[in-house]
Amino acid sequence: MHMDHGATSSGTLAGVGMSRRQLLSGTAAVAIVPAFTSILSHRAEGKMTTLSTPQATFAELQVNGRQHQLALDSRTSLLDVLRENLHLTGTKKGCDHGQCGACTVLVGGRRVLSCLTLAASVREPVTTIEGLRDAKGGLHPMQQAFIDHDAFQCGYCTPGQILSAVACVHEGHADTPDSIREYMSGNLCRCAAYPNIVAAVQQAKPEMTNV
Ligand code: FES
Ligand code: FES
Repeated sequence: MHMDHGATSSGTLAGVGMSRRQLLSGTAAVAIVPAFTSILSHRAEGKMTTLSTPQATFAELQVNGRQHQLALDSRTSLLDVLRENLHLTGTKKGCDHGQCGACTVLVGGRRVLSCLTLAASVREPVTTIEGLRDAKGGLHPMQQAFIDHDAFQCGYCTPGQILSAVACVHEGHADTPDSIREYMSGNLCRCAAYPNIVAAVQQAKPEMTNV
């Protein structure tokens, strides 16, 4: 896995401009620190109700070898930070409820569902599909195996499938087709490329000695 340690993302904290899309979608929960210290009030059934908005949380994330300093609404998911703030859109949002696996990334080498992971809670390095490499900086053996076996059609689930498959091998759960199927069962594929995915994992496994 290629890691360019020490590089620093400039502008992540300073460049807190909110795009119209982010504003409308409500996903730009990161940045704009002062907004989170405000108090909102509204009327409900004739009574005045006061709601406190959450305080901003400062977090430091290492993603694909780059350090990022962020001011976050503490409720922000890792998935939204990756896609909306760091613009790493290879990580896909499928269900956003922990049920499809499309958002799978590696945190400290372990697979996690980024839609269910609070970004502020992440302490270990994050690897997304954009950061996956072989030892020489080329395609990771799992990426190459997915290509070789046509293990995708629309490709929407593929980044999550590949990262999950890498972890599946490292966990020692890729010894047999049945084991691969069982331990990859959290990653759904609407195109039903499952036989090809199993074949790809079997091809990549012996090639993953150093990555
Ligand atoms: Fe995270 Fe579906 S988007 S599991
Ligand atoms: Fe289309 Fe898996 S390749 S959802």
